[in-house]
Amino acid sequence: MIVIDGPAELGGEISIQGAKNSTLPLLAAAVICKGQTVLHNCPKISDVKTAVQILEHLGCRCCWEDSDLIVDNAMTCCEIPQDLMGEMRSSIVFLGAIVSRCGQADLCFPGGCELGPRPIDLHISSLKKLGIEIEESGGCLHCRAPNGIEGNYISLSFPSVGATENVMLAAVCSKGTTIIANAAREPEIGDLAAYLNRCGGRIYGAGEGCIIIDGVKELYGCEHRVIPDRIVAVTYMASAAVTGGNITLKDIDNAHILPMLSPFEESGCEVRQLGGALNIMAPRRLNAVKHIRTMPYPGFPTDAQPVIMSMAAVGRGTSVFVENIFENRYKHAGELQRMGAKIKVEGKVAVVEGVEALSGAPVTAYDLRGGAALVVAGLAASGKTTVSDAGFIARGYEDIAGDLASLGARIRELP
Ligand code: UD1
Repeated sequence: MIVIDGPAELGGEISIQGAKNSTLPLLAAAVICKGQTVLHNCPKISDVKTAVQILEHLGCRCCWEDSDLIVDNAMTCCEIPQDLMGEMRSSIVFLGAIVSRCGQADLCFPGGCELGPRPIDLHISSLKKLGIEIEESGGCLHCRAPNGIEGNYISLSFPSVGATENVMLAAVCSKGTTIIANAAREPEIGDLAAYLNRCGGRIYGAGEGCIIIDGVKELYGCEHRVIPDRIVAVTYMASAAVTGGNITLKDIDNAHILPMLSPFEESGCEVRQLGGALNIMAPRRLNAVKHIRTMPYPGFPTDAQPVIMSMAAVGRGTSVFVENIFENRYKHAGELQRMGAKIKVEGKVAVVEGVEALSGAPVTAYDLRGGAALVVAGLAASGKTTVSDAGFIARGYEDIAGDLASLGARIRELP
């Protein structure tokens, strides 16, 4: 449970952790590489702890040195048990990596935050095109590549982040060339390609809509620095925005923040981007954030939608959200209403009439970013907000309460 005594006024500087959505595929990629991988700036979050458990189950040795995670690849097993797969959806990217390394993989359907139906049909059909035979039975996937993995042309009907990563992982050590058309362009795709190429892979065009992978024979582990977490960064920007704060984020990649700047500009915040840092100065009262339409990168990210909704809840005027990526991603709206927000949800559209002030209330986190949005709202609200089921938030934030407390908020985490 996270307890916040609001309202806060945030000030000061904060460093941003490594990106969750980069680290998970990077850890899957470490399965393919012989020898040792060292990930610098690796976030200590519960999803990474789950990935470490998966690696250890596979026979890899993992150890932490401060924020570096060292993985020694000594794989002995090519199966992931149901309890570990059920912990998080991104465990599905281990599929491509394990088949690449062992020629086979057995794993069950993945779990993760409930954001509506999250099928894996694109993963499966793409991997089949690379010569991987996949049988589904009893909620599990049995995958074999009896003739090895063979390059092919894959055209994704939607630029799925996970499917793009799975194909990259499966194809990096294959016979021939793979082309992914309509590939996801998220920064985390570029980070995965950078790591794989440093290990000996030949991947071109990551970050663009068409990725070309020339298969190589084998990969060797290397040292790699995980990119900064752009969603954690925008969470703290929203925290400053709703509190009339003035904070500086350090260790960020400003290029990755650009697609998320418009609601800050619309609402009257002053954002200055300076090298690897960003300063945000918020007005006493925000304006509306106007229109937010979530889209694949470089559009506005779905993961940032909930925290921006907390800004809209206290902005002067009406804001409209259109959630185009996940069907069930407004669970935080009902909780924000308990704090006095005026929000109407109709399918993928949410209309937010900003109110002058929110009041603290007991609320529940139903997923990771929705939970973070409630913390942001709690900073703006007067009185006490308790966010229960904060375990969802720990999936992606190393220490959200400690970070915000260091910026002046009265916030603490209770066991
Ligand atoms: C990744 C991110 C997640 C982010 C999402 C969209 C990680 C660990 N997670 O999730 O934080 O919210 O990208 O930016 O990186 N889809 C299908 N069939 C498939 C795969 C996806 O229909 O086989 C649909 C999904 O249901 C969803 C959309 O495509 O509607 C986007 O999914 P995808 O890009 O695959 O997201 P994830 O990789 O799961």
